[in-house]
Amino acid sequence: MTIAIYPGSFDPITYGHLDIVERAVKIFDEVIIAVMFNPSKHPMFTVDERRQLIRSATSHIKNVRVDSFPGLLVDYMSIVHANVIVKGLRAISDYESEFQMASMNRKLNPAAETFFMATSSHYSYLSSSIIKEIAMYGGNVTDLVPLHVEQALRDKLQPNKEH
Ligand code: PNS
Repeated sequence: MTIAIYPGSFDPITYGHLDIVERAVKIFDEVIIAVMFNPSKHPMFTVDERRQLIRSATSHIKNVRVDSFPGLLVDYMSIVHANVIVKGLRAISDYESEFQMASMNRKLNPAAETFFMATSSHYSYLSSSIIKEIAMYGGNVTDLVPLHVEQALRDKLQPNKEH
């Protein structure tokens, strides 16, 4: 049984993330989507909110679990007995930091293998940050995130507005 972890900030989950999840579940027995802490980011959604948004977005997929962990990814992997880290690569620009993280994770735990998947070309320009920016200025994110995520962005950004 191969358990893979798909870690990230997921602030919030996008169709780009879902593309990776939907393809990863065909390769691994179980995929755990883990909301982790990235000290260089200041999230808009709480960990609970992010977990809930991911759960709703992946409720149609059987072999997916959604979780969060406040520490090192390699420590979480030991707890859930996973050896594979799944990452989506959008462009060459992602490669440098992803290569560094993959190498560091393998140094911390030699059994931790990172499995890179190329993001589908129609999502290669997507990121949670750019989606938040578009939503912040009232732009349309309909084709970029599931409906409930779009709603959550609206609620977060315009909490007093009637829908
Ligand atoms: O979606 P992101 O923010 O690019 O994901 C980065 C993330 C959260 C996967 C990374 O920051 C992480 O693994 N955080 C957990 C703490 C950790 O293990 N850091 C060392 C990474 S080598």
